[in-house]
Amino acid sequence: MTAERTERKIDKMIHLLVKNATVVVPGPKIASEIGVTRFSVWRWVRALRELGVEIKGHRRTGYQLLKIPDILVPSLIQAELGENEIGHTLIHHFRTDSTNTAAFNLAQNGAEHGTVVVAEEQTAGRGRLGRTWYSEKSSGIYMSVILRPPLSPAAAPILTLMAGVATQHALSSVTGLGVDIRWPNDLLVNGKKVCGILTEMSAELGRLHAIVLGIGINVNHAEMPAELRAVATSLRIESRRMWSRVQIFIALLKELEKCYHQLLEKGSAAIAEQWAAASSYASGKRIRMVTAEAESLVTTAGLDSSGALRVRHDDGREEALVAGEIVEVK
Ligand code: BTN
Repeated sequence: MTAERTERKIDKMIHLLVKNATVVVPGPKIASEIGVTRFSVWRWVRALRELGVEIKGHRRTGYQLLKIPDILVPSLIQAELGENEIGHTLIHHFRTDSTNTAAFNLAQNGAEHGTVVVAEEQTAGRGRLGRTWYSEKSSGIYMSVILRPPLSPAAAPILTLMAGVATQHALSSVTGLGVDIRWPNDLLVNGKKVCGILTEMSAELGRLHAIVLGIGINVNHAEMPAELRAVATSLRIESRRMWSRVQIFIALLKELEKCYHQLLEKGSAAIAEQWAAASSYASGKRIRMVTAEAESLVTTAGLDSSGALRVRHDDGREEALVAGEIVEVK
């Protein structure tokens, strides 16, 4: 498979196999229903198997799906989304460099609000502050959504927090795990990171063209690479079971839609309130804050409605943190 957008025909083949789940579908029937050669069918079956999709080949009679696959293709997702604008256009890649880069390019070319790009694997996943994002094949959810909110560029921070709140709601409702949010938008389980959010913006003086919210979730990683193990984890490691990425992805797209409408209808204070309710970092947490200018030990003192984190210095001085990183001090 290449970095190309997943062909609609592969998606159609998956749909056909799912519709006929557990029965043997003849290769020629698949080929003629989706309008490709039997060789293409054979090639795609092989590629899907590499992604962990269990398809049994029966000599002479055809192919049989042994289990509904856990891959994030439109045919398995969109039927569950109803009226959701977010995900209405869903672009799936088996492999791409970065879904944020793909989404940003689409946004520059006029892609509509709510367009989502998702990949089974990223070869150059990007994190905040120039870091990379570990994007193991078929284990995580690597997605980016294009938003075109009627807001000014100054509202970008609250959109990031909105994504954090939506993801926290989706992960805790599907898994039942305790999911914390560390400002601005790292999601933690048992103190380790399971999800990161990278917000990028295309704007000109005072005018926001598009926001790209990139969300990376470690779902079914059996283990994290040695260099990340002290700080990062996956839902599977913390709960000792696998999770359906399809189910989490659908829940996330619905939560994003809900939180986005709350933001537009009720304003940023409503998001800040939900963020504070979901995060142990909102107030009274002893942290080390690292900004471009300095590093100091402070105590958190609430979130203001724009999404800035208020912190109190030991001499009683307060300030609002708008960018930077924080680490808990135990
Ligand atoms: C961070 O915590 O540093 C942010 C990580 C964001 C990772 C996601 S994965 C999907 C999207 N595509 C990227 O290249 N990055 C974001």
